[in-house]
Amino acid sequence: MTETVSPSQGVHGVISVPGDKSISHRYAMLASIADGTSQIYNYSSGADPHSTLACMSALGISHEISEQDGRQILTIHGRGLHGLQSPGRILDAGNSGSTIRMLSGILAAQPFEATITGDDSLVKRPMRRIMTPLLQMGGHILATNEQFPPLRIQGSPLHGIDYELPVASAQVKSCILLAGLYAKGETIVREPVITRDHTEIALRELGADITIQPRQVRVRETAQLAGKTLVVPGDLSSATFFIVAALVLPGSDLILTNVGLNPTRTALLDVLRGMGANIKLLHIEEINGELIGNLQVGTSRIRGGTIEGAVTAAVIDEIPALAVLGAVSEKGLVVRNASELRVKETDRIDAIAKNLLKMGITLNTTEDSLEIPGSQTFRAAELDSYGDHRIAMAFSIAALAADSASLIHGADAASVSFPEFYATLRQITK
Ligand code: S3P
Repeated sequence: MTETVSPSQGVHGVISVPGDKSISHRYAMLASIADGTSQIYNYSSGADPHSTLACMSALGISHEISEQDGRQILTIHGRGLHGLQSPGRILDAGNSGSTIRMLSGILAAQPFEATITGDDSLVKRPMRRIMTPLLQMGGHILATNEQFPPLRIQGSPLHGIDYELPVASAQVKSCILLAGLYAKGETIVREPVITRDHTEIALRELGADITIQPRQVRVRETAQLAGKTLVVPGDLSSATFFIVAALVLPGSDLILTNVGLNPTRTALLDVLRGMGANIKLLHIEEINGELIGNLQVGTSRIRGGTIEGAVTAAVIDEIPALAVLGAVSEKGLVVRNASELRVKETDRIDAIAKNLLKMGITLNTTEDSLEIPGSQTFRAAELDSYGDHRIAMAFSIAALAADSASLIHGADAASVSFPEFYATLRQITK
């Protein structure tokens, strides 16, 4: 699908974004292996979290979606840690790295064999990073060329390990912790830099035997998780596209409600404020151990800057949007230590570079960095999502700041995390 995006004077209004993608995956998996019923409010409408739900259905977990006072409620009928059933068909994770990587941790411990795969993008993404620790725990996994999906997982008894993550990855950490629920003894995961901690928080909420310390999590074989009511905060990574639009377009004033503000996700706000962004936090509360608040964003003079080291890891999903911001910032943006961008839904360094060049923006890239000089202007262009949701949305925002209408080919990729993206865009640019 191709979307036409015309330049806009500014963005205005009060909007919400879909439920957080990362948290939605975790709640669906954990509610499935908890005892009893869980009601989940604001579950992400994105295709990825629905791939997780479809996998859990294939594993014998029933769910239904109902409506109460205009709010959608996902009810999952958990069958306990040992209640999953052999799927009888290949599990399809679609485009979702989180689904295949995290669910593999659960599958590795089941008393049956399961095969899990995904779309053309997912079958090119590295899985060795989860296979190595799972094999150390006693798991049995076969992969194409020993690293790519499909993964054929023969469930087996596992034992705890003490594992230091070689890459900063919350998906790998989560995979090991989920396997650790079933593993004999204690499982310890140490991380070189802090990554999102939604799995740890959710495990604690549902009653797992877990100890959370900075850059170190311990989980013990757990007898039971207890299903409960859960509320998914809005996705800050999805909000980022509209935050950048409001910062860049003159005369903007945008309020985003009920956005997740977990401190392991808000490095984005620190980076933006450090560059001069006018972002106010209007209200904040805690639900299920996660912080949720409202943000107000106004047009700002953005200086630009450098993102590197642990900060790069902390804003990895926001870099497509930050690259767009960087081109129109005063001094430009440098992003270093970003080799992980090469193995996301597409090679994002390449996709960002190609689309920026199409819009007349100069930049330099290396294997793990981007250097985008500032004070440039966007020329309208025919852009491509390269099948990647965040590339589609980031360049739709760039198109709002261009000199005439741009075309975004493959714009439907946005529905992986944010099916309502273009409707919301039209609402705030009216
Ligand atoms: C995610 C972790 C990150 C992130 C992805 C979602 C998660 O991936 O990029 O969009 O839900 O844990 P990595 O774990 O590969 O860094």
